[in-house]
Amino acid sequence: MGWTVLDDAPIEGLRADLQPSVDEALWLTLLGKQLHWNLVGPTFLSAHAQLDDIVEHARSWTDDLAERLVTLAGVADGSPAAAARGELGSLPISQLAIEDALGTMADALASFARRLRDRAAAADDRDLATQDLYVEVLRAVEKNLWMVRAHLEHPKS
Ligand SMILES: [Fe+2]
Repeated sequence: MGWTVLDDAPIEGLRADLQPSVDEALWLTLLGKQLHWNLVGPTFLSAHAQLDDIVEHARSWTDDLAERLVTLAGVADGSPAAAARGELGSLPISQLAIEDALGTMADALASFARRLRDRAAAADDRDLATQDLYVEVLRAVEKNLWMVRAHLEHPKS
């Protein structure tokens, strides 16, 4: 029997939720670079840099989620197939106007946030440490979502 920090807890369900979270965070790293490279428009430089920041954050979320999975005696899958499973919407292979590129990222971040929120709620009665990780990642995802949306919005009158 493998070692785990939760010898008496039902960790199978926790592991089952963590791998899709890893998949989606990985997929976000690919989407972020795709948009970072191919967006065009007058505020290119700031949007280009913002997307790279999101990629760095998504790499860190991938690492934290995968390491929680391994801490729970699971095996983390960081393969290309895992990234493909984590699809959170469209990943355009074309030039994109800044508004479209950031809109695509906003949709993906919002979808990831919804899923993390559901998984955090489901982890509530099984493992507080895993729930805490979901909440930590969720808070960062929503902060990035706010920053992307702020780039797209106009002041309310
Ligand atoms: Fe770059």
